[in-house]
Amino acid sequence: MILQVKNVVKRYKQVIAVDQVSLEIQEGQIFGLLGPNGAGKTTLIHSIVGLVPVESGTITVFGLDHRRDERQVKQQIGVVPQELAIFEDLTAMENVGFFGSLYGLKGKHLKQEAAKALEFVGLGNRSQQYPKTFSGGMKRRLNIACGIVHRPRLVIMDEPTVGIDPQSRNHILDSVRDLNREGMTVLYTSHYMEEVEQLCHDIAIMDNGRIIAKGTKEELKDLVARDEIIHLQLAALNGNTESALRSIGGVKECRIDGRDVSVISEKNSGNLSRVMQTLHQEGLEIQTMSVERPTLESVFLTLTGRNLRDE
Ligand SMILES: Nc1ncnc2c1ncn2[C@@H]1O[C@H](COP(=O)(O)OP(=O)(O)OP(=O)(O)O)[C@@H](O)[C@H]1O
Ligand SMILES: [Mg+2]
Repeated sequence: MILQVKNVVKRYKQVIAVDQVSLEIQEGQIFGLLGPNGAGKTTLIHSIVGLVPVESGTITVFGLDHRRDERQVKQQIGVVPQELAIFEDLTAMENVGFFGSLYGLKGKHLKQEAAKALEFVGLGNRSQQYPKTFSGGMKRRLNIACGIVHRPRLVIMDEPTVGIDPQSRNHILDSVRDLNREGMTVLYTSHYMEEVEQLCHDIAIMDNGRIIAKGTKEELKDLVARDEIIHLQLAALNGNTESALRSIGGVKECRIDGRDVSVISEKNSGNLSRVMQTLHQEGLEIQTMSVERPTLESVFLTLTGRNLRDE
């Protein structure tokens, strides 16, 4: 276990920003912390890295107490903050160099590592330029380079893709995967469920200061009581198609629109193979087929009655 958060509470006057939060992250993971605006994600991160004092609860990083062993802990954590932490009047290289030096890198080694970090985020050819000439996505990438220059064991990324173009976003998602492959554990925070769904195996969903669900992607999706929906397009139908599909156990509904067929079954009925078999027996050719799967968005909607995204 690389990070253990137990019953952490942080209040801002009347607002309980973090309310009895517990979570565990195993070394080697990309762990997703998903939640809408104001859920308490940033406050939780600030608590973990010691930027805000917590009211109660314990936080253990690398098996060390995050306050008592603050120096040791901080040296091995990298933070990519939600608010860009870069200096507009320093070059990209000077920015990364500055953060590297805070973590004790020096001289030639510092230069090498800074150049590597810039290369890694795709800014190798911009190292001598000033961030004020950068696009939003490039600034986000520079922000990441600053957080990983010292090769931390755990990197915490707070909404690293907010408000950027799709190309920069893909670049960032790829870099997160690369960092993880190189052995870095990542705590990835976002309110874009697609990103968390793509990147992360274990996920916690946060809302109003609380962790409302946690587990693997599959476990979270299993929380959602939902019908299984199979969409098919057939080359042609016969007069028996509908009644044959309806006679499969667990099928609740069968909708036909021209050559498009939707078969709705009870949750976990596992009817895909039976549907295919039935159509085969009827001599019907399947041209396309898709299975509607629950998403993390539908998990959030079911648990809270609200959408994850801003309207
Ligand atoms: N410094 C502060 N002073 C007072 N209230 C704060 C402060 N920081 C955060 N809050 C409140 O704490 C709650 C959690 O905010 P936080 O920024 O941690 O959420 P978040 O999940 O990071 O949201 P976002 O997705 O918008 O970044 C909110 O209600 C917010 O208004
Ligand atoms: Mg935040």
